[in-house]
Amino acid sequence: MKKFYITTPLYYVNGNPHIGHSYTNIACDTLSRFRRLEGDEVLFATGTDEHGQKIKEAAEAKGMEPRLFVDSVVPRFIELWKKLGITYDDFIRTTEKRHERVVKNILEVLYKKGDVYEGEYSGWYCTPCENFWMKAQLVEKNCPDCRRPVEQIREKNFFFRVSKYQAWLVDYINSHEDFILPRIRRNEILSFLKNPLNDLCISRPKSRLSWGVAMPFSDEHVTYVWFDALINYITVCGYGDDPKKFKKFWPADVHMIGKDILRMHAVNWPIMLHAAGIEPPKTIFAHGWWKMGEDKMSKSKGNIVDPLEMVDKYGVDAYRFFLLKEVQFGMDGSFSETALISRINSDLANDLGNLLHRTLSMIEKYFSGLVPKRSKNVDELTKPIIDKVKTLGAEIKTGMDNINFSQALAAIWQLVNMANKFIEQKAPWRLSKEKKTDELKDMMYDLYEVLRIVSLAMWPFLPTTSEKMSGQLGIEVKKRSMKDLRWGMAKPGTKINKGNPLFPRIEP
Ligand code: MSP
Repeated sequence: MKKFYITTPLYYVNGNPHIGHSYTNIACDTLSRFRRLEGDEVLFATGTDEHGQKIKEAAEAKGMEPRLFVDSVVPRFIELWKKLGITYDDFIRTTEKRHERVVKNILEVLYKKGDVYEGEYSGWYCTPCENFWMKAQLVEKNCPDCRRPVEQIREKNFFFRVSKYQAWLVDYINSHEDFILPRIRRNEILSFLKNPLNDLCISRPKSRLSWGVAMPFSDEHVTYVWFDALINYITVCGYGDDPKKFKKFWPADVHMIGKDILRMHAVNWPIMLHAAGIEPPKTIFAHGWWKMGEDKMSKSKGNIVDPLEMVDKYGVDAYRFFLLKEVQFGMDGSFSETALISRINSDLANDLGNLLHRTLSMIEKYFSGLVPKRSKNVDELTKPIIDKVKTLGAEIKTGMDNINFSQALAAIWQLVNMANKFIEQKAPWRLSKEKKTDELKDMMYDLYEVLRIVSLAMWPFLPTTSEKMSGQLGIEVKKRSMKDLRWGMAKPGTKINKGNPLFPRIEP
């Protein structure tokens, strides 16, 4: 049995979950479900990032203690994941004991090795980004990343010797093609690494910030939130606690992230691991950003898409489908309800929904709702459909291995559209009129078989719809497996339950 360990970023709990968070989790959920269909043992982890200045300030704004504040926000994330059908295996909060223990352990290892040292920091600090900057890096006296004002500070802190490992990292990236994906992100990091790295300040004095993991070798400092949070990826799979689990699942197969947090993941994190004697993850995949039209989504613009609202309005699978199909994964996308509605109407209502509804109606009308038995006769109209089914599993797998959801979905929709065309070519109404019952039986069996296969293939992407379809097809699924994507497994005599159309058309 193969293992597959996939992670999402840990989301900051200073605000409500938004489209960006839901995007990563839907992508990881889809990959995890697919791997389970393949028979892999999956560990899919998500969670929340709960320390740091940003969280402390958000708690203060609500007049709450940080601990109570984070406890009050976390359920909103959990509720959203439930609504979106996110089948994670572990939910980690950075305030959990199991995690703090690992953070302290790694800090001690690096301190003993001399890779963490004490020094004085003087420079500019950006609170929203939780990042230090040198004067020369500022843009018009503001943070070069988010362009917000920075604060000048001078204090005693602990530093991590990332500079020592820069050459190793460049070498590692060059010799591991799939370490950073997509390629443009890999090139971005390689070009960033052409300049010397500054050692990373990994502590905050308690006098300024006490909401963090205590440093094991200083009573006056807590750990920098990013240093703490990245370590979750090894906490989850049992580092220092469950060696068997750790050996099985580490290195992670995919760290899924957004492109804005690539440097933390592709520079700091592998160096932290390497310095501590731990292997780097296999792949860090940085996806693109959803924009509102051409605009960046932001609180100040008030144009942030609320996933809960979209799901209530259009249904969970329509939302999942849109995010996964609309843009090639890795690229930026432009969100609009108009685009979402047009995807629902064309791909879901027209192509898929019609195929199912027409087929079930015909099986009901011509064969009293029972799947007919097929003859051995395969004509030139059925043959290409069977041929397509033969390659479908491999096509989906290629899409998923490339983390290209729209490619995998396109392969499934090709089969759907072949079946729609098949109905037009065969003209079942004529077969019925001319009493060509055997041909009509073969045809209904073929359409039914396409739908059985499509409902299974789309389960990772649209799980609710897939399960609903199985019900309408009269199939009781015990265990889903990619092995059942084979032609000819439908059982004649199965009673269908016609039901309602899957996706009613939406008037824009
Ligand atoms: N807490 C850190 C991650 C620590 S991981 C050890 C963090 N959290 S976050 O909540 O600010 O962001 C989480 C993710 O949301 C990031 O991957 C980011 O790219 C993603 N997105 C935020 N807005 C987004 C869009 N508009 N579109 C797509 N994803 C975006 O960073």
